Amino acid sequence: MTQNILITGAAGYIGGSILADFLSRTSSPIKDSRIYATVRSEEQAQRLSKIDGVNVIQVDLSDEASVSEAVLRNEIDIVLHIASSMATQLAANLINALGERRKASGAQTYFVQSSVTALLSIEGGWPYGEVKDTDAIFEKEKEIGGPNPVRQTNILVTELAKAQGVTSFNVALPHVYGTGSGEWSKLSSSIPTYVRTSIAHKQVYKFDVEGRPPAVHISDLVSLYALLTTKILQKEPMPSGEQGHYFGFNHRSPYWAVMDRIATSLHARGLVADASVKTWPSYKMAAEAMSLPELYIRAMCTSTGDLVPVNAYKIGWQPEWTEERYLADIDAEVQAALDLDMIKSSRYDTLLSAEK
Ligand SMILES: NC(=O)c1ccc[n+]([C@@H]2O[C@H](COP(=O)([O-])OP(=O)(O)OC[C@H]3O[C@@H](n4cnc5c(N)ncnc54)[C@H](OP(=O)(O)O)[C@@H]3O)[C@@H](O)[C@H]2O)c1
Repeated sequence: MTQNILITGAAGYIGGSILADFLSRTSSPIKDSRIYATVRSEEQAQRLSKIDGVNVIQVDLSDEASVSEAVLRNEIDIVLHIASSMATQLAANLINALGERRKASGAQTYFVQSSVTALLSIEGGWPYGEVKDTDAIFEKEKEIGGPNPVRQTNILVTELAKAQGVTSFNVALPHVYGTGSGEWSKLSSSIPTYVRTSIAHKQVYKFDVEGRPPAVHISDLVSLYALLTTKILQKEPMPSGEQGHYFGFNHRSPYWAVMDRIATSLHARGLVADASVKTWPSYKMAAEAMSLPELYIRAMCTSTGDLVPVNAYKIGWQPEWTEERYLADIDAEVQAALDLDMIKSSRYDTLLSAEK
């Protein structure tokens, strides 16, 4: 039976890249599924509707009634929720709608949440040290509790999905890099932000702490979502619900080495005064310069975290990029940021508005 998959945030960097990959598939089972994609604006809807094979839904995911109507009318069985890691209401609306769909069809429904690895570092409020994605993360996140909207959303997803009889999965996203293949936004967050800020200040700045956050190339991340979706479609048993954590990274991003390479690239293009890297005088100044929330800037920019990915490899993930390849490609990342950085991202709106 054909199953219907909904990708949220399909005009975004990650959602758009997953959509492009799914539509290019020539083999079962993804090829045999109907693909739906949500976007927020009319302009995005018009642009994505020109692509063959996708059913575009223009919806604000915070509108509960519209989300329910879209999921039920289009008989959605699987939601890959990429639009937001931190807006709790969006995840709740989608899971409640999948619960209704399950009752109406009598068939199992699935929800994949996209979370954030930085949450599992000291700076992200994780006091337990090393963490594997096979550990009891849900219980520990509940113990930590607190106002962090990503953590609140993770907890809600697991609990609400269980209550609604929806099978849930949680993919923790690291620093994602590489040019996306989506129709709308093709850029990630970190490197374009550093490039933009450095040009504005004619100087590259780093933080006083050398973080080595988890990292993944967009093509490898897309292949993980494709693998998860394939296994869901084939009804293969996999860790889900309270055990359903998948750390989506395979190497690290050495922060100071990255900033050195950005400085070299920008200086070679005459965009900064020299190729040196200075240290931000304060975190407050850095947050303002980069339009990032001061409350979370350490977690976002200087955290490392002792995370060990297990589950993604267990289901057969085979990422191709390495730390060496990533560092060798920073100049191309800088060029992509210069060529493509024209779409204002709403990624951190939830965090920035929570801070006000
Ligand atoms: N990129 C990374 O390196 C990274 C790392 C860790 C976690 N994440 C998280 O992963 C998620 C996706 O990342 P991304 O880089 O793909 O972000 P993105 O490029 O900003 O894409 C998110 C998309 O979701 C849409 N969206 C947001 N709220 C919506 C709503 N209420 N209704 C309908 N659509 C909505 C946005 O619409 P508009 O175009 O209208 O704004 C945007 O097109 C984000 O939550 C991000 O924080 C990303």
